[in-house]
Amino acid sequence: MKYVNLILILKLLLVMCFAVHFSSCTFDNEEDLLEDYVCDTIGIVYSDLTYIFEDICQECHKTGDTYRDGIEMDDYDEVKASINTGLVLPDIKHEGSFKMPYQRPKLPDCDIEKIEAWINAGMPEN
Ligand code: HEC
Repeated sequence: MKYVNLILILKLLLVMCFAVHFSSCTFDNEEDLLEDYVCDTIGIVYSDLTYIFEDICQECHKTGDTYRDGIEMDDYDEVKASINTGLVLPDIKHEGSFKMPYQRPKLPDCDIEKIEAWINAGMPEN
């Protein structure tokens, strides 16, 4: 009986050691990730941004949604034309007359940086 208890305790200790070891490992990794985190804005093309324009904006800015100030975002040409109105960048930065996406949380900083870098690069399609 005593012997069995000892084995149990040893097993428990082993499990605890692993748990401590693992939690410290993931903690280190998270810290590294945060420190090394950079927003990659190099070489952005249109397809890198469709998860924003087509998945978020297009819900309200489809072709024909003229009551949304003529801002349409169905494809590359429409997104480009919308941006050329000069309204998109200030509005997503919440510095314009409207805050976009409308009544939704502001886009993450990195998304805005990517869009701005893409505009500055001349909005390459491919
Ligand atoms: C939930 C719906 C909705 C979503 C999502 C949305 N918009 Fe809008 N957007 C609107 C409405 C409504 C207006 C018209 C506001 C008005 O004139 O009263 C508008 C207007 C605009 C305008 C013109 C504003 C002006 O200054 O005249 C821009 C630019 C714009 N949206 C960009 C975007 C971008 C970029 C996104 C995606 C990041 C986006 N919108 C997502 C509803 C939306």
